[in-house]
Amino acid sequence: DQIIIKNGRHPVIEQINFSEPFIPNDCYVDTGENRLLVITGPNWSGKSTYLRQIALITILAQIGSFVPADEAEIGIIDRVFTRIGASDDLTRGQSTFMMEMNETAQILHHSTPKSLVIIDELGRGTSTTDGKSIARAVLEFLYERKIKTLFSTHFHELTEIPIPIKNFHFLIKEEGKKLIFLRKLSEGGTDKSYGIHVAEMAGVPGSVVKRAFDLVDTVYNDEGLNGHVVKKTNQDEKNSILSNREEVPSQRKQKTVQTFLFKPKHNGTISVLEKEITEIDLESLT
Ligand SMILES: Nc1ncnc2c1ncn2[C@@H]1O[C@H](COP(=O)(O)OP(=O)(O)OP(=O)(O)O)[C@@H](O)[C@H]1O
Ligand SMILES: [Mg+2]
Repeated sequence: DQIIIKNGRHPVIEQINFSEPFIPNDCYVDTGENRLLVITGPNWSGKSTYLRQIALITILAQIGSFVPADEAEIGIIDRVFTRIGASDDLTRGQSTFMMEMNETAQILHHSTPKSLVIIDELGRGTSTTDGKSIARAVLEFLYERKIKTLFSTHFHELTEIPIPIKNFHFLIKEEGKKLIFLRKLSEGGTDKSYGIHVAEMAGVPGSVVKRAFDLVDTVYNDEGLNGHVVKKTNQDEKNSILSNREEVPSQRKQKTVQTFLFKPKHNGTISVLEKEITEIDLESLT
């Protein structure tokens, strides 16, 4: 029940990406201490590529094929489950988040300790708090069920949850203002995403990039303006909670009047209509 890969490569990316040499990476997964791998690292650093390469190598091994690696020892896997990317299918009533959760539900219902689960970021399509909470709950579930899982995320808090996960991250080198993506997997978690740097590299207008950096430094940085803003918001919240509480006694003073839709008759008899209504099975109404 192990997946051991030495210097594994992505069979497609290494053939088509000539702008940089393909950097191989190892993998060790089992059903014991190494069953839950959480992979963090900056945007564009190689997380998705790595997850897919492990899935592909595992599938190739199952069909008896050669695998793109120096060495590999891969046990029998009953299914490979993946939850990758963000897409929707509006014609089938699926929003992005709905689709993400449907796929997650499938994984949680059907995976076994013989399966390999690949989750490439989970909980991005909703509020950050809900997303993080769902992601953590899913990790805990998979851990308890002893399901071999590789899980990439930008929610850095997940690297510190109190279950024995194995943290890995992709290395990056900062040279002055320049970022060098080393594409090499290393042990331990990271708390940096370099999202704005990558936005700049992707050609987002300089003024927007500059504004984003300013916002990080001020509004969204605990040390900066944010501390102030948060305190203010908390205070506002407290005030509103207090004012709500203060309203309670005066509300209590009012006499509550409960109206009954089907008030029984004084003599206790029930009309035919009332009987029919009470016998309706609400669940089977269309
Ligand atoms: N091991 C590697 N060697 C060489 N190039 C790589 C390697 N891994 C990834 N790349 C290149 O880097 C690009 C970005 O990688 P990838 O999409 O896997 O990053 P990511 O960490 O998932 O980013 P994001 O957080 O934005 O999803 C790929 O399109 C690929 O061309
Ligand atoms: Mg990715």
